[in-house]
Amino acid sequence: MATALKFVTPEDSVTSFVSRKHKMLINGKWVAAASGKTFPTYNPATGEVLAEVAEGDREDINRAVEAARNAFENGPWRKMTASERGRAIWKLADLLEENLEEFAELETFDNGKPLKVARVADVPLAADLFRYMAGWATKIEGNTIPISVPYTPGQRYLAYTLREPVGVVGQIIPWNFPLLMAAWKLGPALATGNTVVLKPAEQTPLTALRLGELIQEAGIPDGVVNIVPGYGETAGAALAAHPDVDKVAFTGSTEVGRLIVQAAAGNLKKVSLELGGKSPNVVFSDVDDLDSAISGSASAIFFNHGQCCCAGSRLYVEEKVFDKVVDGVVQHASKINIGSGFEPETDMGPLVSQEQLNRVCNYLESGLSEGAKAVIGGSRHGEKGYFVKPTVLVNTNENMKVVQEEIFGPVVTAIPFRDTNELVKKANNTSYGLAAGVWTRDIQKANRIASELRAGTVWINCYNIFDAALPFGGYKQSGWGREMGHEVLEQYTEVKAVCTPM
Ligand code: NAI
Ligand code: MG
Repeated sequence: MATALKFVTPEDSVTSFVSRKHKMLINGKWVAAASGKTFPTYNPATGEVLAEVAEGDREDINRAVEAARNAFENGPWRKMTASERGRAIWKLADLLEENLEEFAELETFDNGKPLKVARVADVPLAADLFRYMAGWATKIEGNTIPISVPYTPGQRYLAYTLREPVGVVGQIIPWNFPLLMAAWKLGPALATGNTVVLKPAEQTPLTALRLGELIQEAGIPDGVVNIVPGYGETAGAALAAHPDVDKVAFTGSTEVGRLIVQAAAGNLKKVSLELGGKSPNVVFSDVDDLDSAISGSASAIFFNHGQCCCAGSRLYVEEKVFDKVVDGVVQHASKINIGSGFEPETDMGPLVSQEQLNRVCNYLESGLSEGAKAVIGGSRHGEKGYFVKPTVLVNTNENMKVVQEEIFGPVVTAIPFRDTNELVKKANNTSYGLAAGVWTRDIQKANRIASELRAGTVWINCYNIFDAALPFGGYKQSGWGREMGHEVLEQYTEVKAVCTPM
């Protein structure tokens, strides 16, 4: 670990927020869990308890769903104009921006990511998402439809469609981008007039709870957004199965995605899923600027410590430049400063939890025992906190777990290829289909490969470019539906066809 330049001292408002006894937001009130129980959230840089949070369970979910139902059916939310709804969401974005530093620090405390990243990525992207969705509130439109009913000859009709909110939405989010995932979920749900019960990840509930305060300040009526922290197996499962929830939106593991689908079957609630990935990132030898392909490939896997569903975790490199590219990525990895997210020179913080540390280390052991070689990294970093060394694995084969399964840590498998057709087959040889990268000067080749890859996002000569206007989501077992863009609005609205003679 490099010596610290200067440890950033968290703002007073942040330390005082963290040290509170955290409650849950139900029907506009901050309340303790029905059971009175709390659970700890940890500081992943030290492994110490950071805060105690009200532990939501079935009873709290029931209360929150009841509040959301009442707000949906009877509250002022339904009566507000689309413009007023949009303005409240815009105000939320403004408030988030005004409190940018506080949110960034909270995220660094709870998730471990470098503060400098939370400041320029997590919080601004969340604010931008709310603004983008605020604009949509006034643009949710139906169509007028010329119909030609054969069995009522001569009769004319006025037929049109309305787009209406789905109703009460349960949203279950992960810990890798805690605030941003809350924004991705809440923004479209609110723009389209739904009410929500949000369950943040048990590892990182703090920014969602602080966001709850801003939601109140923005004038979003009581009961429209309810926030129930708690564990997945209890609070999350109760929300997914609840008979009065009309839709559940989930981001997390593919394994839990399957459980959500099963739980949703009871009342056939609508489901959208954003799940795991094992994304191929392909570097051709004809790339214009090999250095930028190398640094892009390094950040494709090492950004957010590899805890990205779209991480470029399978690096395919054309044989003639394989050694050069691997060497370049290794050079990048060797310069990554590992440390507390609050140290200004830190590039990579800890993984989020002991569980994730164990999971990633198990993958490393499995890969190494099957004959993979770590050119750099390959193990835990230090003894305190949940740090893992950035790792580049070579000598892998398609059957190894490290090539097939999502590791969700800073671990890339580098694999040479010779033939483009063979490459596409290999790249698609996964149960996932979230994202992919292609680096080449030949734009025709790039577009052809983009069309052949079974992935929801393809980045050409770039990686990890996100925008509120750009839809994101998975083919195959990476999920159902899309987040962001106007595509997401379809998942939060029902279409009603209205028809009358004229
Ligand atoms: P997870 O899928 O268990 O947790 C994600 C969310 O689902 C959390 O809010 C959790 O409380 C909730 N949850 C867990 N079990 C549930 C259940 N039975 N019913 C309803 N909700 C439930 O993910 P976890 O255990 O934190 O991480 C495991 C692996 O999942 C990671 O190693 C990674 O591979 C993948 N993952 C993928 C993410 C993505 O962005 N697609 C985000 C987080 C994890
Ligand atoms: Mg889990």
